[in-house]
Amino acid sequence: MPLVSMRQLLDEAAKGGYGVGAFNVNDMEQIQAIMGAAKETNSPVIIQASRGARQFAQDKYLFHLILAASELYPEIPIAMHQDHGNSFETCKSAIELGYTSVMMDGSLKADGKTPASFEENVEVTRKVVDFAHERGVTVEGEIGVLGGVEDGHGAGGSGLDHITDPDQAVEFAELTGVDALAIAIGTSHGAYKFTKKPDGSVLKMDVLIAIHKRLPNTHLVMHGSSSVPKDLQDIINHYGGKLKETWGVPVEEIQLGIRNGVRKINVDTDNRLAITGAIRKVLWESPEKFDPRDYMKPAREAMQKVVAQRMTQFGQAGHAGDYSPIAITEIAKGYADGTLTTQPLVAAK
Ligand code: G3H
Ligand code: 13P
Ligand code: ZN
Repeated sequence: MPLVSMRQLLDEAAKGGYGVGAFNVNDMEQIQAIMGAAKETNSPVIIQASRGARQFAQDKYLFHLILAASELYPEIPIAMHQDHGNSFETCKSAIELGYTSVMMDGSLKADGKTPASFEENVEVTRKVVDFAHERGVTVEGEIGVLGGVEDGHGAGGSGLDHITDPDQAVEFAELTGVDALAIAIGTSHGAYKFTKKPDGSVLKMDVLIAIHKRLPNTHLVMHGSSSVPKDLQDIINHYGGKLKETWGVPVEEIQLGIRNGVRKINVDTDNRLAITGAIRKVLWESPEKFDPRDYMKPAREAMQKVVAQRMTQFGQAGHAGDYSPIAITEIAKGYADGTLTTQPLVAAK
């Protein structure tokens, strides 16, 4: 199956009342782990690459690896998404390469660190929407700022510093025409999100619910949504790692989000933890080993297990065969004639 528009994938998820995990990749084994999990659970999937990933793997390698996945698994709808685009140029280059979806993270300036003004965010996001929609490509925007820093990207600080204002979220969605909206509700990127199991004082599900009430047709996106499971932390620490005690976003809170308009859930850290734990275990128990396949295979299996579990928990499992892809050119027409603004795009099977 050709790569699918993320808008189609999210519209179908809204229709079915489930969420879709968006998993970050940097290399072949991570793509294989996601596709193994998608096949195992019969799930549609979003595969996403950050700027750092595109640089690490080189654009062509990553793009063709994902294309290979779509050839190997024709029954699985795959949307290929640029995670945290920092500028119009980054999003344009992803679209020209063949990504079917981009995130313009205009919540930060192009340095990826400094919070941008509302007006700056609207201006750059609107520019990306115009360019992308003309080509049938989906756009995710962000309003409010997440906490933490990943690979040099992020404002730092606590997730509570720039919680999304529901009024601004409505204005932003109307002014930009984004297909999906990432909001800040207290989460941050990376392993260190919360110092204890989060309650409503640090994880603002009430804000998410308020935004959904005001924007019932907008697909909401939760970033920083790794659950940072204790068993994965323990494996790393048992085999010589030094992670400090930490908590992530409980799956039941994500499921509450899914019941309130969340359609895309970004997960990277949990997979990083699974991979690192598996590699540490092999090298600790068998220090004589030096063939990378001896540790990359268990690492890939460990990630596949986490991804399959999330696909089931988010509800996307079982939905891969619900629909056929709508050509990107048809989707571009829908944006042009206005049928694809707030109206969900649902394909006939
Ligand atoms: O945005 C956060 C993702 O975990 C990607 O991280 O920028 O280190 O690739 P990265
Ligand atoms: P985590 O660090 O919680 O996995 O978040 C990933 C993310 O939001 C990628 O954009
Ligand atoms: Zn993110």
